[in-house]
Amino acid sequence: MGMLEGKRILLGVCGSIAAYKSAYIVREFVKRGAEVQVILTPSALRFVTPLTLGTLSKHPVLSDLVADEQRGVWNNHVDLGNGADLFLIAPASAHTLAKMAGGEADNLLLTTYLSATCPVFFAPAMDLDMHAHPANAENIARLEERGHLHIPSESGELASGLSGTGRMADPEHIADYVEAYFTEKAPLRGKSVVVTAGPTYEAIDPVRFIGNHSSGKMGYALAKAFAEAGARVTLVSGPVSLPAPGGIRRISVTSAQEMYRETLPLFRESDIGVAAAAVADYRPAEPASTKMKKKDANLSIEMEPTEDILKSMGAEKKSGQLLVGFALETDNAEANARGKLVAKNCDMIVLNSLADQGAGFGHDTNKITLMTGNKTVHSELKTKEEAASDIVAFLVTEFL
Ligand SMILES: Cc1cc2nc3c(=O)[nH]c(=O)nc-3n(C[C@H](O)[C@H](O)[C@H](O)COP(=O)(O)O)c2cc1C
Repeated sequence: MGMLEGKRILLGVCGSIAAYKSAYIVREFVKRGAEVQVILTPSALRFVTPLTLGTLSKHPVLSDLVADEQRGVWNNHVDLGNGADLFLIAPASAHTLAKMAGGEADNLLLTTYLSATCPVFFAPAMDLDMHAHPANAENIARLEERGHLHIPSESGELASGLSGTGRMADPEHIADYVEAYFTEKAPLRGKSVVVTAGPTYEAIDPVRFIGNHSSGKMGYALAKAFAEAGARVTLVSGPVSLPAPGGIRRISVTSAQEMYRETLPLFRESDIGVAAAAVADYRPAEPASTKMKKKDANLSIEMEPTEDILKSMGAEKKSGQLLVGFALETDNAEANARGKLVAKNCDMIVLNSLADQGAGFGHDTNKITLMTGNKTVHSELKTKEEAASDIVAFLVTEFL
């Protein structure tokens, strides 16, 4: 499987004569298994038609900030920017590069750029003098300093009839460049991972349930970090309000039993299992089939244990497979977590803190301790994305 398989690519096209080549870029990406959403600047509409790019990408092309003035419908640049695995601007005009460098946002491509949290690539295309102008060179340097990836122009015959540097890189080279980026930082290429995330809801009756405060953020960040490391990821998710991360297969479940039934067969086929979900330990033994009526007397609900998903994964683990569990402890944290590592046959435990400010349920940050059979590594308070990358990097260094 290629590294672009399942990747969601935003392709921003500017008003350059090279805009016609964006059709070949779309075809390259689609051929390599990516999903492409094209955004045209208003000037680009004069160079290439949405019909061509919409047909090749199989998605309607976007260009206006407001999609339907009469009905108040707009194209959500924040969702576009957040939902993508990468944003490529090709061809990137001198004008758009200047606006990106300056943080200006007067069209859909530029507002999406400012909202994008994914890696940004740009492939400049312009005449040789425009390309060499200090203003343009400074803008390119500023964008590179910002961490964006510059796919340099190639040298050759230009549309103006002149010859020199400024021609947009060949569409195939652009696709190779983007693919190489994902391959280089892909230590888990070829590995499959199943990650559980979120809470479970255990029904009391058709309208009520017993649940917990898990937001799923940590598990989702982990799924994304594993995918970025090149793994094929399946996310078994309890009820959360998070969108599925790009390039990841998500299976939605509600109860512990459903999560168990989905996860165990997937784990048998996976190289790595990560149990980050906050699974209920107990469920109502006999959920009512109709809504329970309010009464004056106290109510007792008999509870029975749920399936222990992590323990079952540990019991089934074969040699060559890795199992990562999560522990949330309020007292004797490290001793209890180490006990869990052994009892559940895990290779690694991620100990979560509830005691620290900003860590645990619902927060965007977490403070974790990573434990293996012979190592304990404490970490600072970090974003859940950073913590997820640390967990993946630690796993790779220790075991692979
Ligand atoms: C025929 C023609 C070709 C052009 N080619 C380029 C080009 O290759 N690179 C560039 O930076 N500008 C080029 N321009 C100028 C841009 O279209 C102009 O700067 C425009 O404002 C860019 O808008 P945008 O960046 O919002 O797409 C060209 C203009 C015309 C009329």
